[in-house]
Formats: sequence, structure tokens, C-alpha cells
Amino acid sequence: MRRFSTVRRVTPRYAQIVGWGKGLPVRAMHNREFEALVDTSDEWIRSRTGIVERRIVGPNESTVTLATAAARQALAAADLDPRRIDLIIVATCTPDTLMPAAAPLVQQAIGATRAGAIDVNAACAGFAYALVMANGMIAAGTHHNILVIGADTLSRWVDWTDRSVCVLFGDGAGAVVLQATDTPTGLFGAQLRADGAGAGLLCVPGGGTRMPPTAETIAAGAHFIHMDGPAVFKFAIQILTESTRDVLAQAGLEVGDIDLFVPHQANKRIIDSAMRAVGIPEDKVFINLDRYGNTSAASIPIALCEAIESGRMRPGDNVLMCGFGAGLTWGTALFQWGVPTDVPASDQWRLAGQSIVTSHHDRALAIARRAVGSRGSR
Ligand code: ACO
Repeated sequence: MRRFSTVRRVTPRYAQIVGWGKGLPVRAMHNREFEALVDTSDEWIRSRTGIVERRIVGPNESTVTLATAAARQALAAADLDPRRIDLIIVATCTPDTLMPAAAPLVQQAIGATRAGAIDVNAACAGFAYALVMANGMIAAGTHHNILVIGADTLSRWVDWTDRSVCVLFGDGAGAVVLQATDTPTGLFGAQLRADGAGAGLLCVPGGGTRMPPTAETIAAGAHFIHMDGPAVFKFAIQILTESTRDVLAQAGLEVGDIDLFVPHQANKRIIDSAMRAVGIPEDKVFINLDRYGNTSAASIPIALCEAIESGRMRPGDNVLMCGFGAGLTWGTALFQWGVPTDVPASDQWRLAGQSIVTSHHDRALAIARRAVGSRGSR
């Protein structure tokens, strides 16, 4: 007689951010330092990009060390033992080594002994991609706690004699702990897209399998970032505008329903132009690129982290994030902010957005602030 195995069905769940953190290099580099390196000025960089300074890694820092610092802060804020993490996703286009990926190195460093670990490379859109993927795995019921990290050290790949590129980028990492909850909250709109036809507009042509590194490729600077700035500029404004509108329409929301917009921090002029087109007022847009420059996949999670810690995000807020970058790729995600409680699911429906949710938010915030305080700005 044929025997059937019993399939245990898992219950679809919601995913909520319960921890957040950032990891930044020690060294801050002001615009004025570039005046000694290339033909530029503090005034040009500020007025064309909005950037004033950025953090740059030193010899003992790397994508993995920054990601590890961000992950530790996020775990502390979530009050979560690393052994309870099921999966680590590191969004990065600058892993410490081409092989292995950065994620297993982070996994080892933080002691997440029961976690899987994988990198996602969608350049500056990487964090949005990783968050949407992690959300899907939690919603499917197969994972409970996922650490999602965006980390990049593009300063290692810039040509420090190319003034149109070297002034733009900074290094850093941001992390969130995404946790399963029965509370109906978290992600409720998303768009992940790509247009490979624009691959040549922003790329590192050498060092991969198509053009392995040789003395000639290095002499030709093929291992540096090559970018058509004006073309990327136009693409970015168009994507920020269209993708924001698309995701709002998908969720059935109006622009006025958004409490906070957290765009990829590439250039203040790009953000201003897109926000004007969509009709999002400046006081609803989170900006910190003046202090960090474009940190690629790290820019959105660092901004999220600072938005939470500065009180710009409150339970129940609708938050929209949009990343765009090399590929070309872009990713937009809309989520409701609200830290879940230990209250049984049936009560959470009743209590969502009420004081008990707020008190958990405040507790997590206090833990995060203590963790940041004890480690300085790192
Ligand atoms: N200082 C002084 N002059 C400069 C500098 C500089 N740092 N960089 C460029 N210039 C010059 C150019 O050489 C050019 O001079 P020219 O007219 O004599 O040829 C002039 O300034 C104007 O150059 P543009 O490129 O037209 O300047 P623009 O106003 O477009 O600003 C910028 C350049 C800031 C790079 C802009 O195009 C931009 O931000 N593009 C998007 C870049 C971006 O965000 N990339 C990252 C995407 S995310 C990711 O995946 C990594």
C-alpha cells in the first residue's frame, strides 16, 4: 500500500523590524580634504550633491567589520541572542572577498551558530531587495528571525584622481532584525525591478570573470568605479518618482498617507527633484547624506536607524523607502512601523497602534541608545 508523509503546514505571518543598528568607519573625511587631491572645492561638492563629509575605512576596517558592528547593535536593540537568528542576508556589492561571501564571515563574527548566510548584490538597491526577500521568507512561515544588513565600502573601488566619482561615496553598514509576528503590520507594498540595458552606466568592469585582474587591467583602471554621472542622475530621478507612485498605487495609498520617506542617500538634488514631482514635502523626507555621502546598500538602513533613534518614526507610521543603483536596479518598499509585543495574537489585533505597542517601541529604543552610547558612534 502506498504511504503518504504528513506535511506540517506553516502559518503565514507578518514580519516586523525589532532591532536596528549601524556601523561606521572611525575616520570622517570632509569635502575640503578633496581640494588637495583633485580639482574641486567644498562649495562645488555641497551645491552639486549636498554632501559635506563621509566616513572612509582604515586599514583594519572592511565591509565585514562594519556589517558586524551594525549587526551587533541591531541584536542588542532587539534584545536577541545571535543563536536565535535563522538567516543573515548581507546586501553588498563590495564584499571583503569575491569568495566566500560577506555574510558567512558576519555569521561567524557575531556567533549566529544556527543561521544560514548569503549575500545579495543589487548595488545601492540591495537593502530594499534583501528586506523584501526576508519578508517573504518570514511570511511563508519558514524563518522566524532574519538579520538584514546593507554594507558597502566603495571607497576601496574609487579612483582617487577621478573628481566626478571620488567625492560621492562613503563607507558604512546598517542592519535590522526582522522578526515574525502575528500582528498585522510590516511590509505592505513593494516593487523590485532592473534594467540591465543600463549596466554600463555604473560599473566596475575589471576583476570579475569577464576581465580577470592582470597588470594591464589594473594599469587601465578597470578595477575602479566607472560612472556616467549625468545619465545616472536622470535615471535616479525618474525611478524615485515612478517607483514611489507605483508602490503607493499598489497599496491603495495617497502621498499624504506617508509619514516618512527614506530614499537612497545618493544626491540631495536627486531626492529634492523626485520629491517635488511626487508631492512629498521636505519635512517628511529623511536626509543624512550630508554626513555620510552615498554609502550604497548601507544608506537606507543607516537612515532608518537614525530616523528611529531621532524620534522621526513612531509606531503606526507608514514608511516608504526607495533604493536605486548599478545594474541598473531599483527597489521600493512600503511598511508600517510598529514593534510587536508578546501579547497573544488575538489581543494584538485589538492593541495594535495602542499604548502597549508604544511601550515596546520605547523599550527597544532605550536598549538601542544604550548600545550606541557604550560603543560611541560606531
Ligand atoms: N568638482 C568640480 N567639478 C566637477 C566635479 C567635482 N568633484 N565633478 C565633475 N565636475 C565637473 C565636470 O567635469 C563638468 O565639467 P565640464 O563642464 O568642464 O565638463 C562639470 O563639473 C559638470 O559635470 P556634470 O557631470 O554635468 O555635473 P552634474 O551637475 O551632473 O553633477 C554628479 C555631477 C554630482 C556626479 C551628478 O551627475 C550625480 O550625482 N549623478 C548621479 C551619481 C550617483 O548618484 N551615482 C550613484 C548611484 S547609486 C549606486 O549604485 C552606487
